[in-house]
Amino acid sequence: MYETALPAPLHDALLALLGPAGFLTQATDTSPYCTDWRALYHGRCAAVLRPATTEECAKAVALCHAHGVPMVPQGGNTSMVGGATPDGSGRAVVVSTTRMRQVIAIEHADLTMTVEAGVTLKAAQDAAAAEGLLFPLSISSEGSADIGGILSTNAGGNNTVRYGNARELALGLQAVLPDGTVLDLMRRLRKDNTGYALRQLLIGAEGTLGIITRAIIQLQPAPRSRETALCAVADAKAALDLFAAFRREDPSAIQAFEFMSGVSMGLVNTLIEGASLPLAQPAPAYALVELASPRAGNSLRELMEDVLGHALETGLVSDAVLAESEAQRLDLWKLREEHAEAQKRAGASVKNDVSVPLPAIPTLIAQATAACEALIPGIRVAPFGHIGDGNIHFNLVQPEGADPEAFLAQDHAIMDTVAAIVRKLDGSFSAEHGVGQLKTYLMPSWRGGAELTTMHRIKNAIDPANLMNPGKIFPPDRGTSPRK
Ligand code: MLT
Ligand code: ZN
Repeated sequence: MYETALPAPLHDALLALLGPAGFLTQATDTSPYCTDWRALYHGRCAAVLRPATTEECAKAVALCHAHGVPMVPQGGNTSMVGGATPDGSGRAVVVSTTRMRQVIAIEHADLTMTVEAGVTLKAAQDAAAAEGLLFPLSISSEGSADIGGILSTNAGGNNTVRYGNARELALGLQAVLPDGTVLDLMRRLRKDNTGYALRQLLIGAEGTLGIITRAIIQLQPAPRSRETALCAVADAKAALDLFAAFRREDPSAIQAFEFMSGVSMGLVNTLIEGASLPLAQPAPAYALVELASPRAGNSLRELMEDVLGHALETGLVSDAVLAESEAQRLDLWKLREEHAEAQKRAGASVKNDVSVPLPAIPTLIAQATAACEALIPGIRVAPFGHIGDGNIHFNLVQPEGADPEAFLAQDHAIMDTVAAIVRKLDGSFSAEHGVGQLKTYLMPSWRGGAELTTMHRIKNAIDPANLMNPGKIFPPDRGTSPRK
């Protein structure tokens, strides 16, 4: 008797190909791959495949394809939308990139890193830093999230305001298509107009078109001067005015510009050990600003002091603290990076990862706050996020003492309430987390007509049997799993 639901010939071929370290079938080994980070989805799988090379991955995918077995690509398993979790049928295999962990090359002459998909973002950042360079992407889950995952979801994060999303950083890409074909696009060219930019199709496809196995990423020179400040402000409008003040002086110096509401900062302050607000008193809202330059010297300190000095004089900022050491800088960032964890500890939460044009952010926050408070009395409205690029995590935390399941049962009502306001403001219901399985139901009304039809045609052309990450991105008629 086999432990898995796989046909015996496939089981034996996969075991022979991947070996026991690359082919997990025991429930105790596979279950961590079947639950998402937020514990919203509890799926099942027939096996977890952990290929160590692109060639192994391609052969394993070809075998699964030949047997009609669905495949769920998974990186660091940090999706916010259930994008890497299998459904409850137990038919699919999870294809994990975690054993493809090599930083292959760093080229100083053209500032690139060639890297395998399973390298964590943190490991890639560290490898770049060891060479005096910067890997220009940073997200809260960077210790676990891997390169394949950040490219598959076109991750954004804290430095999008300066360097763009993952899409803008990838020069080259290698992927295994649903039938096992290796699509090799590992060119590190800035200019290459030779037909369709296929790598851009794979990036942001959330694993529905193939499994990204390697990439060539554009690096930057490492900053040699950096200034970081936490500022107390009245509201999002004040934070945006402060952002504009920095941008007027030197837009190229802004490395990050983040917003945190008083409610969400309050959760970090009380629920995260080692986090403490370094200001005299709590404020209604906060902006975290970081300036950076590859040039050494004091010019950024002058810029920071000039803009903040003026903002303090005019009352735009009521209080501010500047990091005087690397340790203090990390303490300030901890207050921002722990927002997702603090909200998790506060109970169930509904995340609305939305974007709107910058001038619409204050209206979004005011209207969505009022609408959500009217919908669920006692709901904790805890927005924060990457205000400099228009992406607000308009997150809602369950009322204190409420039943988490009862709160989550209202997730569509909450998401629809926020989405209606976002739509009126010409925004998006998913700025950087993707659609996954959580938001598929929103696709027909938001991306219907020619847009969704074209997506279907592309999916059908590349994956006619719908074997690659089924139930993700596309609305229920292609099959989604109900949340467990
Ligand atoms: C973050 O920026 O910390 C995450 O993308 C946000 C979240 O928890 O919604
Ligand atoms: Zn974010």
